[in-house]
Amino acid sequence: MALQSARRSARKGSRKPAKPPRFSAKTADKHDLYQRSVQDAETESRFIEKVFKKRVGRPAESLREDFCGTALLTATWVKRGPQRRGIGIDLDPSVLAWGTKHNIAPLGDASERVKLYQQDVRDSIPEKVDVIGAFNFSYWIFMTRDEMRKYFAHVRRGLKKDGIFLLDAYGGWDAQEPMLENRPMRGGFTYVWDQDKFCPITHRITNYIHFHFKDGTKLERAFTYEWRYWTLPELTELLAEAGFRDIEVYWDTSDDDVHEAYKPRKRAENQPGWLAYLAARP
Ligand SMILES: C[S@@+](CC[C@H](N)C(=O)[O-])C[C@H]1O[C@@H](n2cnc3c(N)ncnc32)[C@H](O)[C@@H]1O
Repeated sequence: MALQSARRSARKGSRKPAKPPRFSAKTADKHDLYQRSVQDAETESRFIEKVFKKRVGRPAESLREDFCGTALLTATWVKRGPQRRGIGIDLDPSVLAWGTKHNIAPLGDASERVKLYQQDVRDSIPEKVDVIGAFNFSYWIFMTRDEMRKYFAHVRRGLKKDGIFLLDAYGGWDAQEPMLENRPMRGGFTYVWDQDKFCPITHRITNYIHFHFKDGTKLERAFTYEWRYWTLPELTELLAEAGFRDIEVYWDTSDDDVHEAYKPRKRAENQPGWLAYLAARP
């Protein structure tokens, strides 16, 4: 499996617009392209629901999406149940404004059950929630064990007693080599996942997302990611050091590229590229 497939994406089951629009760098909206290429908020919401119900024994109601970006997951979460509340946190006012217009406002009355905070995820908010999610590896901006442990401890304080923290990670040997992967998307554009740099000493990585269009135009470096590449043992140890318990790795047990079947696993076969979830209780 190639690493580009390790971006949660639409890689398995992208939503298909009835009439595919035409795209061009001249008119492209990078947030729209990102959502179409990278996110599958319905599947992710269902996964959160399932894990919470199974582990806690009641339906989850409140979700806090750290690094929410356009808050697509928050909006999808709230849409899927009348009792649901969603909180999104992001530093960037422009991406929050985009998400408010395109994802939250269309919820209508349900938008009253959404709150977006423009702040650092490490700053406190008044509400405690059932689930905190940090997805698409956004928390890999934390470069040291100390920073990561402090972030995890802060998340723990933001959860209800029976809450759950869910986060994702990717890996495999493909993850450590420079590579470019193209994925053609409906509507006539190509999503390009660019693993530009990997430092074996520091595990600092630089990745980009580019978009290329059928009319020959390109949106280069639409998104840039400067991360530390974290491994599952490091993350599970840091979660434990931050006070979390019942830490489990959800591994994709499906044997085809079309379906996902994340199940708790203690051991796994090595693979060139994989994506996994971690779940932990406070
Ligand atoms: C890759 S996007 C994540 C979008 C979406 N959550 C997803 O799953 O695809 C990362 C987001 O994290 C935000 N961000 C980066 N550092 C942050 C911080 N310390 N606190 C809050 N948001 C931060 C950026 O503004 C950006 O919108």
